[in-house]
Amino acid sequence: MCGIVGYIGTREAFPIIINGLKRLEYRGYDSAGVAISNNGQMGIYKIKGKVSQLEDAVKKTDIMGTIGIGHTRWATHGAPNDINAHPHKSMNGKFVVVHNGIIENYSVLKKRLTARHYTFVSQTDTEVLANLIEYIYLFAKISAEDAVRFALSKVQGAYGIAVICTDEPDKIIAARKSSPLVLGIGVDEYFVASDATPFVEYTNQVVYLDNDTLAVISRNGLSIKTIKNVPVTPEITEINFDFDEIEKGGFPDFMLKEIYEQPHSITDTLRGRVYMQENEINIGGLLDVMPRLMNARRMIIVGCGTSWHAGLLGEYLFEEYARIPVEVEYASEFRYRNPIINSEDVVIAISQSGETADTLAAIQLAKKCGACVLGICNVVGSSIARETHAGVYTHAGPEIGVASTKAFTAQVSVLAMIALMVGRAKYNIKPVQYHQLLNELTDVPKKVEEVLTTADKIKHVAELYKDSPNFIYLGRGCYYPIALEGALKLKEISYIHAEGYPAAEMKHGPIALIDDKMPVVVIAAKDKSYEKIVNNIQEVKARKGIVIAVVTKGDTIISQMADYVLEVPEFETAIGAMITVIPLQLLSYYIAVMRGCNVDQPRNLAKSVTVE
Ligand code: AGP
Ligand code: GLU
Repeated sequence: MCGIVGYIGTREAFPIIINGLKRLEYRGYDSAGVAISNNGQMGIYKIKGKVSQLEDAVKKTDIMGTIGIGHTRWATHGAPNDINAHPHKSMNGKFVVVHNGIIENYSVLKKRLTARHYTFVSQTDTEVLANLIEYIYLFAKISAEDAVRFALSKVQGAYGIAVICTDEPDKIIAARKSSPLVLGIGVDEYFVASDATPFVEYTNQVVYLDNDTLAVISRNGLSIKTIKNVPVTPEITEINFDFDEIEKGGFPDFMLKEIYEQPHSITDTLRGRVYMQENEINIGGLLDVMPRLMNARRMIIVGCGTSWHAGLLGEYLFEEYARIPVEVEYASEFRYRNPIINSEDVVIAISQSGETADTLAAIQLAKKCGACVLGICNVVGSSIARETHAGVYTHAGPEIGVASTKAFTAQVSVLAMIALMVGRAKYNIKPVQYHQLLNELTDVPKKVEEVLTTADKIKHVAELYKDSPNFIYLGRGCYYPIALEGALKLKEISYIHAEGYPAAEMKHGPIALIDDKMPVVVIAAKDKSYEKIVNNIQEVKARKGIVIAVVTKGDTIISQMADYVLEVPEFETAIGAMITVIPLQLLSYYIAVMRGCNVDQPRNLAKSVTVE
């Protein structure tokens, strides 16, 4: 995880780096640090805690300098504390390093360096890299750039790094393998960061650094080479960034803003892709791979967390409309088995960030086996988006809250579009039915809007059950992934234990948990298994459980049995089912806020999990 920012130019570097780090806190926020070089002097300021705590701690210090690097951490090696916070300095003070990733062979390297009288102050793998670079630099008497390159050739694992050498203080050396790095090119100034948000107000000219490349940025320009020292011509991309999207826009936190953005973000996902008049879905990014999709023997969907839940809904949609057998796999499990994949398979990787290490590794494995690999990502230019054969961006806009909300509904919208497009191309869906399905899909945003108007009722239920230590979430069919997602949301932001279960599976064990103190959230909007879910609600009530049911507006049957009902507008098929997640997002949000939790940055988590 971790966020990196570097700056070199004519302005004061510290405020630029601090503000940039704040935007990257979604990547980690257990400690923060900045190194600023000024007239040959290197000042390092670091602290356990958030970027704002670092800012407060140095308020009275005059930090001057036009070149610097900074880091916001999500610890992998060594507890979050002041010493383990980055930047890390090499033993003789020649190098300072910020690092995102894991140096997997750090203990072997550490032993070798210790044998050469190197000592270490932190428990991090990053300090080992800093010392390795310095050792090579001093021993071989080569340039800082060559020392970094040579050190990286000895390293196994993942890294995005920014390095300053105190002997060559007018440059930043940046390199990446697996962890992302983007360069920003301004007028007489350069930026490097884990994504483009830290510098969007200064420039829209960016270079996405490729894997296994190293860049040197100085006030005079930029040069890129591969780790094997082959020059690379920088490919400059112009990005369009709506600055308001990374601000809270009047909401108390990003999560609530992102929940409320969904009518708009789902519309953006569908825009330019669903054509009602022509009765057509057209996804440009998939045109070339349509034959492979239509002839797929099997589809494997991989993802983690919320993206995996979206995949489970995708399974339902693909089997229903495209009539292709689907398996949905946790990316982390998939890659450590010996999965049987071949060139007739299509693998779809779902990832909001496009940087999740497990998902990235699953893609690499699937590619090696010859499968056609598609990506469904939100972050443009992210590693997964660039690694896949083809893909579809969700266009949900930046998601900053660690708990995924608008990314989920956008991912499900994309999966619905692909399932329908393939189903239609295979003539599984007749034109009239297709039109109805497209209608249902394009109606989702206004139905989400309607659910959002019921927030007060949801808040009331949150107030009543905010102190419950456990929750159960139940759903059948396409509501089962929604139940899992509801439970995950509650766990991650309110720290309440919650389990999502297929409603019918409850009687095989979890029913033992139910008593008069257990809130059971049941997704029970009308569909073909409505009668069955009514039975499941009866089973919970017979054991005195507290039923909070998500029902179709106007439902008179469940409203008489359940303790509380949360209504959603009517819809016809699994495509509309995604709207039932909205009350669950709001329920978790209000419970977490009432419990005093930091919903945007829950403990122990990070937005982008770039470690395995
Ligand atoms: C969702 O609320 C979580 N924070 C988490 O499970 C997330 O969905 C998962 O880490 C996958 O992230 P990605 O979509 O960026 O790959
Ligand atoms: N491994 C480094 C540390 O623990 C960087 C962490 C990361 O990028 O997740 O400090």
